Amino acid sequence: MSIVSPGEKRPRVFSGVQPTGNIHIGNYLGALVQFVELQDQADCIYCIVDQHAITVPQDPKELRQHILDVAALYLAVGIDPKKAIVFVQSEVSAHTELSWILTCNSYTGELSRMTQFKQKNKGRESAPTGLFTYPVLMAADILLYDTDIVPVGNDQKQHIELTRDLANRVNGKYPGTFVVPDGRFMKSGARIMSLDDPTSKMSKSAVNPLSRISLLDEPAKIKKAIMRATTDSEGIIRYDIENKPGISNLLSIYSTFTGTPIPELEQKYEGAGYGTLKKDLVEVTVDALAPIQQRYAEIRNSEELLKILDDGAERANAIAEVVLKRVKNSFGLGR
Ligand code: AQP
Repeated sequence: MSIVSPGEKRPRVFSGVQPTGNIHIGNYLGALVQFVELQDQADCIYCIVDQHAITVPQDPKELRQHILDVAALYLAVGIDPKKAIVFVQSEVSAHTELSWILTCNSYTGELSRMTQFKQKNKGRESAPTGLFTYPVLMAADILLYDTDIVPVGNDQKQHIELTRDLANRVNGKYPGTFVVPDGRFMKSGARIMSLDDPTSKMSKSAVNPLSRISLLDEPAKIKKAIMRATTDSEGIIRYDIENKPGISNLLSIYSTFTGTPIPELEQKYEGAGYGTLKKDLVEVTVDALAPIQQRYAEIRNSEELLKILDDGAERANAIAEVVLKRVKNSFGLGR
């Protein structure tokens, strides 16, 4: 689907992934597929958002590794550094600077309403401040690049709305300070659910590794996770999120990987058992991930990867500094 008409200026696209563990098929089908699709039509900037990762405790050595893992996976899924800027968030200090300016223009009430915050803070008496202000940093990430479009999964809808609210609020006081971005969501794959509990989303940090399929999982692990996926006792393969979240999720994954519409899959599996669908989905998933894993192995420990990130940080800094200067001028900061 084209996002730009002939003769129009190419829009700016920005998005990111947290290096909180191995990227899973939810991150891939909800967000990364769009990253790749958009790089031919837009001016794309893709970030590894390591400062978001430390809103929850991280092992420093592991975090360093995960930053490079995510960078290598970006390239392995098809992001081309000649077409898109790829960089690490903490290497562009303007993100945190803009985040403070936006923090001063946000309200505790609106941040308390963020569902992701409520979920991640469940059971705690007092919240880590970073977890609470996470959406403001995310707004800074986006607004820092005069972003028009933000390709993300459905779980980020509320954060995108907050970003728009903050941009409009500041523009109301100081017109022309920010470009107001729009979210972009996949029709299918925008919310891949956990395999062991199909009522919650697939997540990198969920305790049970069988709840997700990571892009680097071996075929045996993929098989185990899919064959054990929670379903229901009806025995009929049909898409019905309300009553059959498990089977609906498996159909969604199958459909998004293969491009086969769900009604066609329902027809194909009419009269078949859940085991048959699961067995086929194992094959579809293993086949889809094999070329990604091969490219990842080629690039993960290469000098080239480091050079791409150095170059990305330089290019991102150059854009960010201009926007930050404009924002500071709007607010009367500095001399
Ligand atoms: N289950 C999902 N289905 C579709 N899209 C998803 N995304 C995340 N989970 C799903 C999208 O992937 C992008 C990167 O996500 P993130 O790394 O910023 O963090 P997240 O949304 O918090 O994802 P995780 O995997 O659940 O990480 P943890 O466990 O660390 O919190 C985003 O565009 C997101 O919408």
